[in-house]
Amino acid sequence: MKKIVVLSGAGMSADSGIKTFRGAGGLWEGHAITDVATPEAFERDPALVLRFYNARRRQLDEVQPNAGHLALAALEKFYAVSIITQNVDDLHERAGSSRIIHLHGELRKKRSTRNSNLIEAWTEDLAPGDPAPDGGYWRPHIVWFGEEVPMMEDAAAEMAYADLLIVVGTSLVVYPAAGLVHYAPSHARIFVVDPNRPAMNWMTHGITFIEENAAEVLPRLVESLIREVSHPTSGIT
Ligand code: OAD
Repeated sequence: MKKIVVLSGAGMSADSGIKTFRGAGGLWEGHAITDVATPEAFERDPALVLRFYNARRRQLDEVQPNAGHLALAALEKFYAVSIITQNVDDLHERAGSSRIIHLHGELRKKRSTRNSNLIEAWTEDLAPGDPAPDGGYWRPHIVWFGEEVPMMEDAAAEMAYADLLIVVGTSLVVYPAAGLVHYAPSHARIFVVDPNRPAMNWMTHGITFIEENAAEVLPRLVESLIREVSHPTSGIT
């Protein structure tokens, strides 16, 4: 089975109704990213940060995977598919994808401020000072700016075996995640799905850009990729 790696970002979930980060004049749901997505912000104003992430987590109950998520899940019958996502929502899981690496954490999980390996399901709103069993406090299991990205190594290892890479809905401005594309082997075909072509400071020849929304493009793209393995002569180029 050929291997397909998907690198997804906020645009992947935009068609499900979750706002992207850099869409509205640099504000994310009305907040500057630095006011809600840094360890300094959490130290300065934990109530604000927790209110923000409590709302993000609750929003998951109101949204559904879109046709793009579902299409990627359908690929698994025909390809070995790994999804590397910068998203903290659970829409790839709910669509049925089985191999998912969350680079920036997960809204359905909380972790201790003392031991970052103490991670539990996050099911109720958190308040400042809610105690974790190790003497620390609970915080969202989210990688904030300036923090390490522990899943990078696993993600780079997946990338290295890609026969085909689909980059979808990411502005590719946040590192180290954006650097992952460099780990794809040179023979890998690359598709970039985004209505606004991301700025790339890497070789773009041989890349197919599809400048439309994920929920429209991915079902089409997946259909042709499936056709390619079922009828090898009629595939896309
Ligand atoms: P951005 O908000 O930076 O970029 C979203 C991308 O999605 C843009 O390139 C949009 O053009 C594109 N887009 C919008 N609607 C789309 C649609 N319907 N279909 C496809 N693409 C669409 O989000 P990310 O690149 O994911 O990190 O941001 C990376 C990281 O920065 C996030 O994981 C988050 C953020 O701050 C942390 O929270 C640590």
